[in-house]
Amino acid sequence: MLSVTSGNAQSIVLASAPERPPMPIVVGNWKMNGLLDSLGEVERIARGVGGTRADVRLALPATLIALAALKGGELTIGAQDVHPEPCGPRTGGIAATMLRDAGARFTLVGHSERRTPQGSDDDSRVAVKLQAARAAGLEVILCVGETADDRRAGKEAAVVEKQIRRALCNVVLGNWLTIAYEPRWAIGSGTLPSLGKIAAMHRTIRSALAAMAGHDVPLLYGGSVSAANAREILSVDSIDGLLVGNASLTADRFVPIVEAAA
Ligand code: PGA
Repeated sequence: MLSVTSGNAQSIVLASAPERPPMPIVVGNWKMNGLLDSLGEVERIARGVGGTRADVRLALPATLIALAALKGGELTIGAQDVHPEPCGPRTGGIAATMLRDAGARFTLVGHSERRTPQGSDDDSRVAVKLQAARAAGLEVILCVGETADDRRAGKEAAVVEKQIRRALCNVVLGNWLTIAYEPRWAIGSGTLPSLGKIAAMHRTIRSALAAMAGHDVPLLYGGSVSAANAREILSVDSIDGLLVGNASLTADRFVPIVEAAA
């Protein structure tokens, strides 16, 4: 086990160097959508992507996880958020162990819709959630990304680097971690960053990881991904996969994205 400390005293411990993934990773994020009826759509997605050369995952509302885990075939079912504490008097909270018990294999952490006053995630809460998920045996997709104001001010690299340093401080890295770069202004807006901007941010993320831990994790892009733009986005060398919101809600729109990735 290797321990590395960077100039700013943030420390990451490396258990074993994760490889770049053998297959593209395509994650659907259903957000606050889906009733029991929607399990049919989960099955259609599972059938549609069966046999493709892609690692396909769905981050579902907590209410659907247990049943989807039974019906999702080769799909990996996960959650969208996790409570930072393991149990106790936290009305409405859902702990990582509860998600794992329901059949979740991974969770998103730090999605920009949680990094809002209502969602109440700041960098330190994201770090605690990440550790809670890990302790329960969930894989983590850590979401990072700048706001439109950050980008206008030219602060996007500094903001994302800080999100990564804070989230991964004193964490044992391994192949349980994936990072999704999702510019907040691209989510749900139909507006994409240029391929050059995605590549530049992925370079920033990889060099932040290299400075802290000397190795890589899989990097995704998310924000307004659709079947029409997936192939172009995936032409960026550093991209290991996609995080898809709205276009993951139906098999008709999601399966072609997976096919483009595979
Ligand atoms: P979008 O959402 O694809 O609807 O822009 C992506 C996300 O929020 O993960």
